[in-house]
Amino acid sequence: MQEHNDSDMPIHRSVLLREVLELLSPVDGGVYFDGTFGGGGYSRALLESANCSIIACDRDDRVVAIADDFGKKYLGRFTFFHEKFSSIKSLLQDPVDGIVLDLGVSNFQLSDPTRGFSFRAAGPIDMSMGLCDETAMDVLRKYSENDLANIIYKFGEEHFSRRIAKNIKLNLKNIHNTEDLANIIRKCVGKKGKIDAATKTFQALRIFVNRELEELEKILADSIDVLKPSGKILVVSFHSLEDRIVKLFFREMCATGRFALLTKKPIIASEEELSSNSKSRSAKLRGIYML
Ligand SMILES: C[S@@+](CC[C@H](N)C(=O)[O-])C[C@H]1O[C@@H](n2cnc3c(N)ncnc32)[C@H](O)[C@@H]1O
Repeated sequence: MQEHNDSDMPIHRSVLLREVLELLSPVDGGVYFDGTFGGGGYSRALLESANCSIIACDRDDRVVAIADDFGKKYLGRFTFFHEKFSSIKSLLQDPVDGIVLDLGVSNFQLSDPTRGFSFRAAGPIDMSMGLCDETAMDVLRKYSENDLANIIYKFGEEHFSRRIAKNIKLNLKNIHNTEDLANIIRKCVGKKGKIDAATKTFQALRIFVNRELEELEKILADSIDVLKPSGKILVVSFHSLEDRIVKLFFREMCATGRFALLTKKPIIASEEELSSNSKSRSAKLRGIYML
């Protein structure tokens, strides 16, 4: 699953890449914003398919080395900011032809135990993608049992949120790493099906620590002010909370008469992609364009 690039970082296998490329259909001279640079899979495909320019950002400082390589390889056509995508308005000086977001964490973030995203290995309870004010451990310590339960319910849609929050607070002194945390959650939820019982709580903490939904709402609202006429916005989301925000925003924008849907229904991964990249299982691609 993991390959390496020139920067010796594990490579993230881009999801729905062909579909994103087809919908965005970059043109020579076009300028596109890649708000979730990651391993650079989308940026590279765009830069290779037309003589276009990319302005990219990522909140994770560990992708800066990859971005530096891009700057050298695509001289004058690639600009990178180590920033959150919610700053889009201050990052762009002129309107762009397209904006693309591939939300959530990358494989190299997930698979690095020192980042604390995974319940499969013992790591620090961190979960920051970068440029965060607090870690997941801060959240467990700082927030009351009631607030913690609400976070787990709201961002993880976890029905056992109250029981989980109570047990986390009761056992706080014994929670030293992600494995300890996952085991406490598993005891509260019990085994059900193939999905690990800690999945929803880990998702909730990650979304909360990174303020992922606020980030998404902010960039969507600001993106319409930095698009050229006919400009496109494409978003790949990975869970229902994100997808709902994107779907409702696109619907609202189309109702103004200034935008139209590029995707009547969300595009999902092909059988071929599903069989080679399990992360694509939950991916949904939606897009709109300015009339
Ligand atoms: C799924 S990966 C993107 C992979 C990329 N499309 C590729 O093909 O290699 C998501 C990336 O977005 C970044 N990210 C997530 N939320 C962000 C935000 N609000 N601002 C900037 N970067 C963000 C993460 O740090 C991660 O590197």
